[in-house]
Amino acid sequence: MCGIVGYIGPREAYPIIIEGLKRLEYRGYDSAGIALFDGKDLKVCKTKGKVVDLENKLLNEISNSGSIGIGHTRWATHGVPNDVNSHPHHSNSGNLVIIHNGIIENYDSLKKELSSRGYTFKSDTDTEVLVNLIEDVKSKENVKLGKAVQIALNQVIGAYAIAVFDKTQPNEIIIARLGSPLAIGVGKDEFFIASDASPFIEYTKNAIYLEDEEMAIIRLNKDIKVRKIKDDSLVDPYVQELQINLEQIEKGGFKHFMLKEIYEQPKAINDTYRGRLLREDAIIKMSGVEDNMKKFLAADRIIIVACGTSWHAGLVAEYIFEDLARIPVEVEYASEFRYRNPIITEKDVIIAISQSGETADTLAAIKLAKSKGAFVFGVCNVVGSSIARETDAGAYTHAGPEIGVASTKAFTTQITVLTLIALRLARAKGTISSSDFRHHLLELEMIPKKVEKALESDAHIKKIADIYKDSRNCLYLGRGYNFPVALEGALKLKEISYIHAEGYPAAEMKHGPIALIDENMPIVVIATKKGHYEKVVSNIQEIKARKGKIIGIVTEGDVDVRELADHVIEVPETLEALSPLLTTIPLQLLSYHIAVSLGKNVDQPRNLAKSVTVE
Ligand code: M6R
Repeated sequence: MCGIVGYIGPREAYPIIIEGLKRLEYRGYDSAGIALFDGKDLKVCKTKGKVVDLENKLLNEISNSGSIGIGHTRWATHGVPNDVNSHPHHSNSGNLVIIHNGIIENYDSLKKELSSRGYTFKSDTDTEVLVNLIEDVKSKENVKLGKAVQIALNQVIGAYAIAVFDKTQPNEIIIARLGSPLAIGVGKDEFFIASDASPFIEYTKNAIYLEDEEMAIIRLNKDIKVRKIKDDSLVDPYVQELQINLEQIEKGGFKHFMLKEIYEQPKAINDTYRGRLLREDAIIKMSGVEDNMKKFLAADRIIIVACGTSWHAGLVAEYIFEDLARIPVEVEYASEFRYRNPIITEKDVIIAISQSGETADTLAAIKLAKSKGAFVFGVCNVVGSSIARETDAGAYTHAGPEIGVASTKAFTTQITVLTLIALRLARAKGTISSSDFRHHLLELEMIPKKVEKALESDAHIKKIADIYKDSRNCLYLGRGYNFPVALEGALKLKEISYIHAEGYPAAEMKHGPIALIDENMPIVVIATKKGHYEKVVSNIQEIKARKGKIIGIVTEGDVDVRELADHVIEVPETLEALSPLLTTIPLQLLSYHIAVSLGKNVDQPRNLAKSVTVE
């Protein structure tokens, strides 16, 4: 949930770390801090606020920053966001500094123990406890930093990615991970450390992704030593070639990453099905599915686990799998599933959906399902992420880096992957006719062009956004395949504009939410031609009778809703099962423009972070 960056090598460390932190700010932006060793002194600077605030604080102070350093951007867990609770944290002697992403669950008992032996603490954080535990072990056992980190971590319960530096051994940085990601960029005579590879892609394409329960001793001008934290055994690290490039993680002329990512959807969806959807041969090729076809076909049911937007994609998938492949599906919030003693058998197939591949609750749900013998299939965007590695098989979405905290292209590409899987299983089970199958492939191939068409309503949507930007509440209604889209539209509005919004199945409106409707309430209704159209039109009548303001998402050429609604936004026609890929687009743009006109920080909404690596 926080971002970690480090550097050791011949270059100046400061610019690498500051730029790296900016790229990792999507992981948290409550505070930022840096520790730099200039060959003589250790300089630590930290502040509440964003990386740019840290940069301003350091202005004129950095002349020779040295070539070793670590930096942190925080999403607060223990202790409010303020200067003192910001990372890096010092040990009591002032020799050690640490940055940490994760939670030390037993920090309170460790803190009491250390306090009883004279240690004092300035902050409210679990991290300051950890750095003092390491210092305590180091002096008690009279060992070097690497060994002290290892012994200390074996006493710790929780999740962490850490980087530790000792000014009395200033030629090395020790890093370790359990449950939070950590990558090492391997250059010529230099090493980069980061929560993901984005801070170092312009310097090296070679990366080592540390596995859980591994630590690395990274020394200047020496080889990296990777060890198991538990038993100290040496690990031969796998050096992987990175596929991402700088352009993918820059804004490319757009004002915000969110807008760029909304506009990337035609390409992202195309990248998702490219090489998998072979229309002319009328086949879908997905090795993760082919290799495990027996398990899919023998499944009593599919259980989908996910959080947030990924959970909404799972809800769309429920309709698709049941409709096309006739397999019963249950969709679970990973956070509930993992704690409610669910009934899971070896005949269950679990599909875990996660953009980041690092969401702690989803990861825990996967581990639980695996322990009961279920087969677990992952749908992730981030290649090599924890969930991608933990699952038995999977399919990447290939959406490219998603940096805006509000998920956009991840959602539509997840739906694309899940549609491909459902279609493949439907074909294998014989629950879809050959002509219907071909029709779906043809329509799916046309989706990127249709998304482009839907994006043409951008200026029109901006005008609607300007009208409703000061609303306090908003309702989103949809039926069938578009009920989850209503939920997703409401989530988008909530998270970036802080306007209260609720998504509901349109027919449920009568069971409560209708009481909220008056002339001040905007209601976004998804009313495309193929999804229970007449019934939704009746719902719109009911809203109109109560003077609600109706924004209809309709199929091109629609007449009926246009007559009733205050505004309509058209999307191209497609098959009902594919309609969420189009109806989502105006809802993303609507929330984006409302948030922008309210002056909100669209890419970094308050209190949120891109990947939730704590439960
Ligand atoms: O990385 P994941 O897909 O596992 O993340 C799940 C949620 O945290 C995420 O979708 C969140 O709800 C987004 N901010 C929504 O836009």
